[in-house]
Amino acid sequence: SRLPATLIPGDGIGPEITDAVVRVLDAVDAGFDWDVQLGGMAAIEAHGEPLPKETLASIRQNGLALKGPLTTPIGTGFRSVNVQLRAEFDLYANVRPGLTIVRGGRYEDIDLILVRENLEGFYVGLEHYVRVGDDPHGMAIASGINTREGSRRVLRYAFDMAARLGRKKVTVVHKANILKMLTGIFLETAREVAADYAGRVEMDDRIVDACAMQLVLDPSQFDVIVTTNMFGDILSDEIAGLVGGLGLAPGANIGDKAAIFEAVHGSAPDIAGKGVANPTAMLLAAALMLDHVGQNEKATRIRAALGETLNSDKKTRDLGGTTGTAEFAEALINRLR
Ligand code: NAI
Ligand code: MG
Repeated sequence: SRLPATLIPGDGIGPEITDAVVRVLDAVDAGFDWDVQLGGMAAIEAHGEPLPKETLASIRQNGLALKGPLTTPIGTGFRSVNVQLRAEFDLYANVRPGLTIVRGGRYEDIDLILVRENLEGFYVGLEHYVRVGDDPHGMAIASGINTREGSRRVLRYAFDMAARLGRKKVTVVHKANILKMLTGIFLETAREVAADYAGRVEMDDRIVDACAMQLVLDPSQFDVIVTTNMFGDILSDEIAGLVGGLGLAPGANIGDKAAIFEAVHGSAPDIAGKGVANPTAMLLAAALMLDHVGQNEKATRIRAALGETLNSDKKTRDLGGTTGTAEFAEALINRLR
């Protein structure tokens, strides 16, 4: 049975890497029926807006999308497409795995998943200036919002995911010693949610600054991490750095009615159209999408073949090799067959 899904090739290197990903997915019989839609600059050129209603309707209908990087239009007054998609589809969980795939880095065997609350916290946009003396911008004030329900659903997602993937431990990251209410509500709710998983998934908690240090010292002590929006934003990039940088990092934005999978990197205009982009992050995003729809076996095959290919002589330019995007995909497909 085939699964309808929205495909947004995106801007810059987007179409090149998407093309490679679609071919690799075909090689494992992933079974997605792609509905190709526009987003970003490509959509502005065709429809006059970065997120056309046809694209939104397709994601709403399918509940599943693979999205290429989108160039953020500057000076056009449009909101960030990524922020707009999160809000539109209530995508409350941002999932960022950190998996060692290219050997030779500081750590050989990182395999952890960070789940970040995606809609609340300090990123709700509640900021204002206050006059101090004759300086109208003499003080800046930002408010954060964390709700018990908003915390509960992302915590549930993290514990469910841990149980589903056979992971042993969820580490709840907070700063409840200082932000006693704002992040205390998250920690308190975590203890309630964890009680429902007793005997299946263990919970512990860390203060965010200590966690940042421990990640660098010994990432193997972590399994699944769940945290609030801003802490998650920062720690997820730290984790990407531990496994070789943003160029190898996938992400998923997940809600109850839709899930959107993407590479963490942007549209790389400096190398667009040259056929040299590394499709790895987008391929790992596609593997997450397979995990999400219960096709873990196919996802695992892709990750394994990707690891073998990246550690052979087939490397794209960003990793010091000379293999082009299409040739890399071909090598990967040969391993999968
Ligand atoms: P970028 O990630 O596009 O590029 C940074 C550097 O990494 C460049 O030198 C680029 O060539 C390289 N790079 C990125 N992905 C690569 C890949 N797959 N293979 C090989 N090299 C790769 O970040 P930048 O230049 O800051 O942003 C470019 C555009 O992308 C901007 O309009 C930005 O707003 C947008 N962007 C979109 C994102 C999204 O849609 N999720 C995320 C980040 C940026
Ligand atoms: Mg970030």
